[in-house]
Amino acid sequence: MIAFVSSSLSVLVVHSILPLIMVANGYNPGYSNLYGSKPFEISEHVVRLRIEAIKVELGKMQQAYQNMAQPDMTPRDQASYDFIIVGGGTAGAALASRLSDIAASILLIEAGDEETPFMDVPLEAINSEKGNTKEYLSEPTDRYCLSMTNRQCRVKKARVMGGSSVTNWMVATRGHRDDYDEWARMGNTGWSYKEVLPYFRKLENMNIPSIRLDRTYHRRKGPMEISYSPFQTPLSIAFLRSMEDLGYPRVDYNGRDMVGFSRVQATMLDGSRISSNKAYLYSESRQNLFVSKNSIVKKVLINKKTKEATGVRFTKNEKVFTVYARKEVILCAGAIGSAQLLMLSGVGPTEDLKKLDIDVIQDLPVGYSLQDHVAFIGSTYVVKEPIGILFSDLDNLSYPYSADYYMYRKGPLTVPGGAEVIGFVNVDDVYNTQTLPNIEYLFFPLTIYNLRETMRDLGVNENLLFAFEDIKRNYTYSILTMLAKPGSRGRLRLKANDINVAPLIDPNYLATQEDIRILTKGVENAITFTKLSLLKQFGAELYQTPLPNCAQYTFNSPTYLHCAINHMTLGMGHYTGTCRMGPEKDYTAVVNPQLQVYGIEKLRVIDGSIMPVIPRGHLTLPTLMIAEKGADMIKERWGYPVDPHR
Ligand SMILES: Cc1cc2nc3c(=O)[nH]c(=O)nc-3n(C[C@H](O)[C@H](O)[C@H](O)COP(=O)(O)OP(=O)(O)OC[C@H]3O[C@@H](n4cnc5c(N)ncnc54)[C@H](O)[C@@H]3O)c2cc1C
Ligand SMILES: *[C@@H]1O[C@H](CO)[C@@H](O)[C@H](O)[C@H]1NC(C)=O
Repeated sequence: MIAFVSSSLSVLVVHSILPLIMVANGYNPGYSNLYGSKPFEISEHVVRLRIEAIKVELGKMQQAYQNMAQPDMTPRDQASYDFIIVGGGTAGAALASRLSDIAASILLIEAGDEETPFMDVPLEAINSEKGNTKEYLSEPTDRYCLSMTNRQCRVKKARVMGGSSVTNWMVATRGHRDDYDEWARMGNTGWSYKEVLPYFRKLENMNIPSIRLDRTYHRRKGPMEISYSPFQTPLSIAFLRSMEDLGYPRVDYNGRDMVGFSRVQATMLDGSRISSNKAYLYSESRQNLFVSKNSIVKKVLINKKTKEATGVRFTKNEKVFTVYARKEVILCAGAIGSAQLLMLSGVGPTEDLKKLDIDVIQDLPVGYSLQDHVAFIGSTYVVKEPIGILFSDLDNLSYPYSADYYMYRKGPLTVPGGAEVIGFVNVDDVYNTQTLPNIEYLFFPLTIYNLRETMRDLGVNENLLFAFEDIKRNYTYSILTMLAKPGSRGRLRLKANDINVAPLIDPNYLATQEDIRILTKGVENAITFTKLSLLKQFGAELYQTPLPNCAQYTFNSPTYLHCAINHMTLGMGHYTGTCRMGPEKDYTAVVNPQLQVYGIEKLRVIDGSIMPVIPRGHLTLPTLMIAEKGADMIKERWGYPVDPHR
């Protein structure tokens, strides 16, 4: 029996490895599937075997996850700890790990439960329900998300250990050096690029051989694994070469220069997602670190007279607990959660809090300065060969794709969030590598319109989905165009004096003419990519069916694109700015450059909400950098040694 199984497995290996080598050597027209020209052998027997193997592998993974995770612990009511960290997400997991290096007791409180192996399938990032999610809707306007139900953009956030680093697309970007120099120019002492670079190096274990040699920018010893996916579609190989032919340089966008194109560096290892929870907390349990999961913090307790944070109140299993912090309470609940908690605790805009009968302790502009990246996802290209990703192929066990993932962490399921190539350009000066990029491109070997679930998650209405009905089974690719440095700012407000009621989110996308101009120009520029391109050999053609609500305009004219952007808007979920960092004189600031909440003692915010201006790119690495730097600030404050370079 064993010999039989292993020989069948070797059939699978031959299937998956050989064509991979062919792919690595280039793209040869005549593909019959993602792996090459050799058709897959389809037999019921192999399918059954695959199902069994996947089941066994999943069981093993589940067990391994359980063994490595921090155990759940319920604190005693009224217990005291040195530090209380609220939120075990991207920043919170990193901070808890770094703080537990010192001789102090730490309680980490997280609303969600542990991750499961399904959450770590890279491609499924954009396609799956992840346990305990919370949906946030934007306020309706006439400027964006017009093809979504009720004209509301929606974002789902998972409550889980690791937070958004468990559900995001895994695209690992630091931002441009000028993003941090800008923070410093605004008066945020200590946050210039030169000062944050050691923390970007400290947090990473760079697995990409050609990049890790660059020791100025990269390092091998940090907890967060950064790698390329082990798989590339023939389409993305062709796309990347086309971009070089067009004159865009190939870059390590996390190194010296950002402008150019590259494969996506991703927060993953050996074909699987690495969340901050895995990177920082999957280790032997630490004597001084206590983690309470499935626990929702309702309020930070602040002494009204001394204006000192003393602890927090949370609910777990329908019971209410009060716990106290001897040294500090640190909010790591994310741009939505931390702002919400501050306001519920009496720290926020006086007028708004009063309306909800919240006792005001400190008047601060919490929730103002909200920023997010906004993108357009409507540019779709159809190809004539079976070399893109179709979810129906992945689900079809006659194909080896699923088994290749679960058994070898190989194949198309290892593509991070579906994004294979990333580029940064300044659309006003496209080939100049020394300018500041204002557009990010992401190349997907698929059309998100195939992803009905994702589309429904985003609230896309049926009318719009129908426009893509006739290419449902075609192989496609699409280019996402994202405004890298939006000027618009929105606002987050409480809707009720209750942690379980989602706040009002007004992302205020595309509020400036300049934002609209740049995004439109970026989309126009993307359309030129296919003209000269190697993709032609695969028969790539722009899909010309207009969005139903924009059909009155000439397809792809500036007026059409403007309309399309208003309808098919994608908010990236990169919320930031709600607890903005700034110097004392800055009336928009909620925390100081030491991340301490103005006017309140012993209370910090350390997560994605403090960014004074949104950096170019995606926010996981910037958030981890903030957590690493914040950990050192706390250690310094309490007299422990720190060394950003270790
Ligand atoms: C769909 C999507 C795709 C993305 N793609 C990318 C990408 O490809 N690359 C990238 O770099 N970035 C991406 N991002 C953004 C990035 O993941 C986030 O900006 C970043 O992870 C935020 O980290 P954080 O620590 O601030 O918050 P989070 O990681 O969200 O952590 C907050 C934690 O606090 C917990 N919490 C909240 N409220 C409470 C409470 N009251 N009590 C207890 N616990 C609470 C939550 O459960 C959560 O675990 C994406 C975001 C989204 C939504
Ligand atoms: C989609 O695929 C079908 C079947 O292969 C083909 O007939 C059709 O022309 C394709 N659609 C486009 C827009 O290329």
